[in-house]
Amino acid sequence: MGEYRLNLLISREQIASIVKDLADQISKDYREKELVLVCILKGAFMFLSDLVRHLQISVKIDFVRLASYGAGMKSSGRIEITKDIETSIEGKDVLIVEDIVDSGRTLQFLRDRLSLANPNSVKICALLDKKARREVEIEVDYIGKEVDDVFVVGYGIDFNETCRNLPEIYYVTPIDQQKG
Ligand code: IMP
Ligand code: MG
Repeated sequence: MGEYRLNLLISREQIASIVKDLADQISKDYREKELVLVCILKGAFMFLSDLVRHLQISVKIDFVRLASYGAGMKSSGRIEITKDIETSIEGKDVLIVEDIVDSGRTLQFLRDRLSLANPNSVKICALLDKKARREVEIEVDYIGKEVDDVFVVGYGIDFNETCRNLPEIYYVTPIDQQKG
């Protein structure tokens, strides 16, 4: 990360308040339902772990890992499941937990894929939404916060697998070489 600078975007306190609000809403909407949370690895692991601690309903938790080719800072159209869920979701209410929606292709793919198992419903909860970058139409049911078209890291979200452990969310900018 030598040639990049991390600029604080969302503080721990702000994240905590956003996550608590989402959990309250989800607890209300899924009362009396059989909710299965499907967390997309790896980026959403920290968000999921905080979110579930605020839920006031009983839930099941499962994970998927997706690989998207074309790598780098942008996801391409080709997406594959490299680790599938292990819970039966037939007839259940599913809520996908994602770190950030960008083009929308990842979530479109996963929602279509999970729908094949005949769940009662499939909805989406994303911590961050880069709405300006959407390439496919996808309804995101719960959004923590909209962000501008910047590259973000921290709170589970990575830059080449680094920075996931940071408790705050930062945006990355290249350091101006003249200023060192
Ligand atoms: P989409 O399929 O284009 O919506 O891409 C969503 C995925 O791209 C997210 O799950 C992230 O893994 C990754 N991504 C998008 N924007 C960022 C970012 O600013 N920082 C890190 N990863 C990002
Ligand atoms: Mg991701």
